[in-house]
Amino acid sequence: MMKIAVLPGDGIGPEIVAQAVKVLRALGLEMQLDEAPIGGAGYEAAGDPLPADTLALAKAADAVLLGAVGDWKYDSLPRDMRPERGLLRIRKELNLFANLRPALLYAELASASTLKPEVVSGLDLMIVRELTGDIYFGQPRGISTLANGEREGINTMRYNESEIRRIGHVAFQIAMKRNKKVCSVDKANVLEATELWRQVMIEISREYPEVELSHMYVDNAAMQLVRAPKQFDVMVTGNIFGDILSDEASMLTGSIGMLPSASLDANNKGMYEPSHGSAPDIAGKDVANPLATILSVAMMLRYTFNDETNAVRIENAVKQALAEGYRTADIYTDGCKKVKCSEMGDAVVAAL
Ligand code: IPM
Ligand code: MG
Repeated sequence: MMKIAVLPGDGIGPEIVAQAVKVLRALGLEMQLDEAPIGGAGYEAAGDPLPADTLALAKAADAVLLGAVGDWKYDSLPRDMRPERGLLRIRKELNLFANLRPALLYAELASASTLKPEVVSGLDLMIVRELTGDIYFGQPRGISTLANGEREGINTMRYNESEIRRIGHVAFQIAMKRNKKVCSVDKANVLEATELWRQVMIEISREYPEVELSHMYVDNAAMQLVRAPKQFDVMVTGNIFGDILSDEASMLTGSIGMLPSASLDANNKGMYEPSHGSAPDIAGKDVANPLATILSVAMMLRYTFNDETNAVRIENAVKQALAEGYRTADIYTDGCKKVKCSEMGDAVVAAL
């Protein structure tokens, strides 16, 4: 039986997760779903953005379905108590080092993108982001006061060889199932941590002779993503560059509300969440786009439960709901049917 920990989190998290759970249940599979608080909700419930019970539940589950964390009202809390720390800690605790963020343009949404349809139509790009290292976790870090009384903020970008190697293998293995192209993104002209990144990518590429490896500096990659995004197949990069580039790539698909993600450990245990944030400004209004979360459930079935059939069923149901003209506000264009978050969930269930 599938054991899934459901962590709705903050802001629009509970609304979008409710729709994803509705779709998951509609498959009629045997499953056990257990819900627990994380982020600001964890802080409210247990004084910790990652309560011990939530972590234990996530560790015992086969997979985790997460909504989103964060709200401005927690900005003045001590750093360790802020919602984002809960998210970073669960990624680290579960060793979810491989973050997959597919940017796929559904044909129906070509006109919702801010880019010209011919630039984005047919786009199918997979961003592989390293998720448990880099400047997000490197020590030393902090804000301190110098001898002269001036404050200084420090973070440390660091990667060791084995961290680079394991994410590299994930990217090459995914490329083998796709168009056999990997573009590794770094800033090797300035940053030593990423100079090592490039060297290690070149070393492991020898184990994948069929895959074409290229390298791109991150500033150029940011530009190429909006100039000619279809040149990419698999893009592999570190934690912070991947954070930034995946938000950028999401807009190629019409809306960040469309981009799912999977964060996997070495055994394909995974946490599945939309790539977007908690959007507190629209929380509780039932207007958010639940499709990124629903598509994250499809990734869960594919990567953790090896159930390609039901993963594709969900993806096709999303396509059908879009083809029938259903649109949440973020992807709405003239002539379509504007629906609420819950109605979009219903449309996907009906299409199933
Ligand atoms: C993401 C988010 C997180 C990150 C934040 C909420 C900590 O932006 O998943 O991309 O930076 O990883
Ligand atoms: Mg981000």
